[in-house]
Amino acid sequence: MELAVVGAGYVGLVTALVFAQLGNKVRVVEIRAKRVSDLKAGKIHFYEPGLGEILLRHLDKNLFFTNDYSEAVSKAEVIFICVGTPTRQGRADLSFVYAAGRSIALSLKERAIVVVKSTVPPGTNRSLAKKMKKLAKNSFEVASVPEFLREGRALWDALHPMRVVIGAESKTASKKLLALHRPLPGKRVICSPESAQLIKYASNAFLPMKISFANSIAALCDRLGADVEDVLKGVGLDKRIGVDFLGAGIGYGGSCFPKDVAALIHLSQRHGHNFRLLKATAKTNEAQIDYFIKKIIESCQGDVKEKIITVLGLSFKPETSDMREARSIPIINELSRLGARVRVTDPVAISEAKGLISTVEFFKDPYEALTGAEAMVLVTEWKDYQMLDFKRVKMLMKEPVVLDGRNIYNRKQLEKLGFVYKGVGK
Ligand code: UGA
Repeated sequence: MELAVVGAGYVGLVTALVFAQLGNKVRVVEIRAKRVSDLKAGKIHFYEPGLGEILLRHLDKNLFFTNDYSEAVSKAEVIFICVGTPTRQGRADLSFVYAAGRSIALSLKERAIVVVKSTVPPGTNRSLAKKMKKLAKNSFEVASVPEFLREGRALWDALHPMRVVIGAESKTASKKLLALHRPLPGKRVICSPESAQLIKYASNAFLPMKISFANSIAALCDRLGADVEDVLKGVGLDKRIGVDFLGAGIGYGGSCFPKDVAALIHLSQRHGHNFRLLKATAKTNEAQIDYFIKKIIESCQGDVKEKIITVLGLSFKPETSDMREARSIPIINELSRLGARVRVTDPVAISEAKGLISTVEFFKDPYEALTGAEAMVLVTEWKDYQMLDFKRVKMLMKEPVVLDGRNIYNRKQLEKLGFVYKGVGK
């Protein structure tokens, strides 16, 4: 099939690569000229395992990049809109979606299907179609196929979806979209565009809710002397609950959960519904930073002033350089505000982090960053940090104190080596 993708960001690029990999002809339109020239040269502007190889495999064969909308769109049977929907005071900002819609309207082929992949509130398709109809010469339909991929595992998730949700008004559109997704596994959910959009928001609300629940149980574990990992394993093994996303720690960050939770709270409010559960989810997540900072202060004998504290991991999670809403930022800012001498390290996110945090010393090598440190704070659970040589770390640190924000280390082993260890709820 001939396809177009609007926006070469995270979702757009992965969508384009996956459909190219499945044998379609894909043209990607992106307004940032530098991004287009980089992609044409086989370079990707963010870190994501596996994408580079697929890009090189399909580039200029069945995958093309341009900044010309009509070049990308005029032959496409299906056009995916994959532009950002940032939050503005809690509300999803749809200006990029509408701008993309207007730009493609003029070049649409007769009976083209415009698929919104961006996360948008229910009802957006109708207002988008209305704006586009004023400009379009040909008939078209707007559908929704939300994306459920995780950064760091984007390619795997996109090629092995647990479900494909197709929100379309007409049978013709849903049939065509079903055919396009046929090579992919996973259950199909065929529904209205409004339901599809709410499925996306509800999913990105439910998972944070599980995380905040896990963190609330962890706080109880800290007080009662229970181990949160045992507790949540015991809870999650009930299939109705499930162990995934029941991991206690310093809470969720990233470009999706915080934004989508805020947007769903806002959307509910606008429609007269007070979504108390979700508000509590967001509040619990915010409070988790203070809770963890308190643990750091306690472990540093009540004061972090002038102490060298090494933070391991900056990106919002491993296998990505993405710093959006990364939990490292508020933790580092608060430690700096309290007068600590903060050192940081990360396998890939240092250059992205440099524009966001300034009061710290950056290190490439974790062992160098830990030399002379009075506390180590694990923020992002990169494999490199899971496999640290703690005998060496013990010799390098001034005080052997480990604060484990992701509960990845074995308390007994570290205590045996002479470390003071604090996790979250264990
Ligand atoms: C999330 C969803 O998992 C995807 O399904 C969705 O498609 C995507 O948002 C999106 O809307 O685009 P992502 O933001 O890449 O994916 O990252 P996750 O792996 O979900 O992690 C989000 C945050 O939750 C991270 O900060 C992670 O450390 C935290 N987390 C995750 C926990 O604190 N505990 C857990 O048990 C799991």
